[in-house]
Amino acid sequence: MRKTLVAGNWKLNGSKDSIKTLVTDLLAGMSEVTDTQVAVCPPYIYIPMVAEMLEGSAVAVGSQDNADQESGAFTGEVAAPMLKEMGCTYAIVGHSERRSIYGETDADTANKYAAARKAGLTPILCVGELLEERENGITEDVVARQLDAVIDLEGVEALADGVIAYEPVWAIGTGKTASPEQAQAVHAFIRGKISALNEDVAAKVQILYGGSMNAGNAAELLAMEDIDGGLIGGASLAADTFLPICKA
Ligand code: PGA
Repeated sequence: MRKTLVAGNWKLNGSKDSIKTLVTDLLAGMSEVTDTQVAVCPPYIYIPMVAEMLEGSAVAVGSQDNADQESGAFTGEVAAPMLKEMGCTYAIVGHSERRSIYGETDADTANKYAAARKAGLTPILCVGELLEERENGITEDVVARQLDAVIDLEGVEALADGVIAYEPVWAIGTGKTASPEQAQAVHAFIRGKISALNEDVAAKVQILYGGSMNAGNAAELLAMEDIDGGLIGGASLAADTFLPICKA
């Protein structure tokens, strides 16, 4: 049976003070969260502080990205082994904001996935279609292409070491959530595609939904057969909006 994972993606938000408050509030409410894995992904600079605050707790820390290189002349980058060393368990790769704003390709994402995995992090591979792609009926093609980049580079077995997050781009930060049926259909497609290559990996891999998930819609999304958790943006920035999702 797959566990439920709820991960908060804080994006470029917070300050030392606001993050201390958020983590303190999360820790205070975690006793009411049972049977759900919880993780938070702060901006890089706050990772050591957050990891220290969360040490020994049930909340894991992740990064929002990682370099595709381990070390060297790559100004501005942060490598997966460094993130591991500073307390990260997870690393988000291929978020749609990285793809659309920073021009990261499927190949870049696959290389980052490989680097995270090599460092012993659990990559959270984000996939998802643009509104235009959904309207053109090519959602499955887009998601398949994004998954294939990792499968072709690392082999399908590599997906057993990671988590997949299906995030329809039109639902991210828009308040417009995919319906449970819409999300389930894509999650089932993803699991089916993996299953055709390796049934064990397909049965094991957690597939999260992301895109305007909140306390009001989490329970019905999480009730779907192939939705194993959530990747939460806006609603992860305060304990009183994030914890109810973890409890759902
Ligand atoms: P959102 O973001 O919950 O604010 O829509 C989700 C994400 O980008 O991971």
